[in-house]
Amino acid sequence: MQNNTFSTLFVGQNLVTLNRVDSTNNFLKQEVAKSTPLPEGTVILAEEQFAGRGQVNNTWTSEPGKNLTFSLLLFPSFLPAQKQFLLNQAISIAINDALANIIGPQVKIKWPNDIYFKDDKLGGVLIENVLRGNNLKYAIVGIGINVNQLTFPSTIKNVTSLKEILHRDYHKIDLLSQLCKSIEQRYLQLRSGNYHSIEAEYLSNLYKLNELHTFKIEGKEEVGVISGIDEFGCLQIRMGGELRTFDFKEVAFVQN
Ligand code: BTN
Repeated sequence: MQNNTFSTLFVGQNLVTLNRVDSTNNFLKQEVAKSTPLPEGTVILAEEQFAGRGQVNNTWTSEPGKNLTFSLLLFPSFLPAQKQFLLNQAISIAINDALANIIGPQVKIKWPNDIYFKDDKLGGVLIENVLRGNNLKYAIVGIGINVNQLTFPSTIKNVTSLKEILHRDYHKIDLLSQLCKSIEQRYLQLRSGNYHSIEAEYLSNLYKLNELHTFKIEGKEEVGVISGIDEFGCLQIRMGGELRTFDFKEVAFVQN
């Protein structure tokens, strides 16, 4: 166990830094499967991922050495499987809190858990939960934040970084320390059962909430207004007087 100076109780206290790995989520999953137990809050940080993974089987590309790519181990055994979206919400608000401290209130959470600045993606989250019975056994929380990268592949649209916003380099370990602190605060709030305020704060930081926007549904563009999230984490959109509910694979945002 490598101790560090993060001012947290457990998140990031065991920090393992790797130069190069396929994916920090994969690495952490393999470590958890080994016989030596890892402490809750363990963070695997990589300078470079050569097969970084995003949501819905997408890849996550990140210029080596420039950004934060890390995975965090949590044991949310208090959370029933049907409430697992609350963990996504708590983590998203935590990242939003930390980044809003640096770049202000234009940071938003794009459902389900992308981190946006104005209309550009600044980071993403890939949470992989393992269940025991009806509850969560452990969660691998993978987080990628674009920090000091300025040029992105032309195939990646609507993307930004802290450096692009601030016009200066940002110290990656300082940012990791702030993220660990805010994740711990929100996770403890979740563990205390304060679900209502987590849901309310997620909603109040939601990208395009109550705004008219175009979505792609079954290959067709449709206009609607995001009005909320249901108890399973599905997106509720008001479309022509009707409230419709979508899961992650059923709806895409059409970017302006
Ligand atoms: C997304 O927006 O699609 C989620 C991106 C998650 C990327 C992070 S980087 C660290 C961790 N390891 C991975 O392979 N993916 C996550």
